[in-house]
Amino acid sequence: MTLEGKVAVVTGSGRGLGLAYAQELARQGASVVINDVDADTAADAVASIEAAGGRAVAVVAPVGPTSTAEELVRTAVDTFGGLDILVTNAGVLRDTVLWKMSDDDFDTVVNVHLRGTFTCARAAASWMREHEVAGRIICIGSPTGQRGNFGQTNYAAAKAGIVGMVRTWALELKRAGITVNAVIPVAATAMTATVPYFAAAVEADEKGEAMPAFFRHDLGFGTSDDVAGLIAYLASDDASGVTGQAIGIGGDRLQVWSHPEPVFTTYHEGGWSYESLREEFPEVAAERQQSVGESFPPLPEELRR
Ligand SMILES: NC(=O)c1ccc[n+]([C@@H]2O[C@H](COP(=O)([O-])OP(=O)(O)OC[C@H]3O[C@@H](n4cnc5c(N)ncnc54)[C@H](O)[C@@H]3O)[C@@H](O)[C@H]2O)c1
Repeated sequence: MTLEGKVAVVTGSGRGLGLAYAQELARQGASVVINDVDADTAADAVASIEAAGGRAVAVVAPVGPTSTAEELVRTAVDTFGGLDILVTNAGVLRDTVLWKMSDDDFDTVVNVHLRGTFTCARAAASWMREHEVAGRIICIGSPTGQRGNFGQTNYAAAKAGIVGMVRTWALELKRAGITVNAVIPVAATAMTATVPYFAAAVEADEKGEAMPAFFRHDLGFGTSDDVAGLIAYLASDDASGVTGQAIGIGGDRLQVWSHPEPVFTTYHEGGWSYESLREEFPEVAAERQQSVGESFPPLPEELRR
């Protein structure tokens, strides 16, 4: 087994994608610290891993505060003797358009996703550096962070911020041999089950049937298990040369996302005044304005619900 002897922390791993990551890491031989705010799902997650012959322990605490991050690292070290892998996956949604979004909607989502990723990665990286462990930090982003999405100001801010931190940490932790990557998943979970566009796929999954190829192939939308293999791969010694990347996965599809690059560069001797921009910008922008949001193809007739 590729991860034999390794120790992993997976935040938000009581259910959904996090549970699939924890189970796959355990299946590959890692001991896993399960984390969730929901004690019952955390206990069930531990039981499922132990029933399959793996090793797991639960920390029931909200990701966000430094105290939780420190407890997660301490539990990994005290229970399993170290820490090799961190997966920051815990998440919540509070969707609404900008003009209806409350301070609490914004702060809640940013606290769990962005601050939770920061505090957990800082605690894990500090321990790994101090103990000279060439560890793995895998942070979960979203297509929304990459491209924006209607009604998700808070979530877009947090997920785009996570990918920005990943690029920074890949630089800062390179000398220590610690890799840091973002995974951009898409899967049928409680978070996506209510999206009408995905209804036919969720319906097939719930019946235990294979999802239609349109979802798995064209949209890269599948099950949580479809995402878990990439987490285990990035956590392994095989992926020691992969760092600073944002890798998309879902269904049958794997994608390497580009980092933002200028698509066009031009110069104006002496700098750009309002007048020179008014004159030249329409031409510069004419065919170069970038698209925003994800664009989905129309659903085939038979998959409409
Ligand atoms: N499902 C998708 O298609 C999709 C797409 C892009 C990104 N993601 C991301 O993947 C991650 C997992 O999503 P999911 O679809 O499995 O969602 P989910 O809601 O099924 O699972 C999230 C888990 O996190 C836990 N959680 C919530 N707040 C927490 C906190 N403060 N501390 C610890 N645990 C907490 C929840 O109790 C739950 O068990 C999230 O970061 C999400 O943004 C999911």
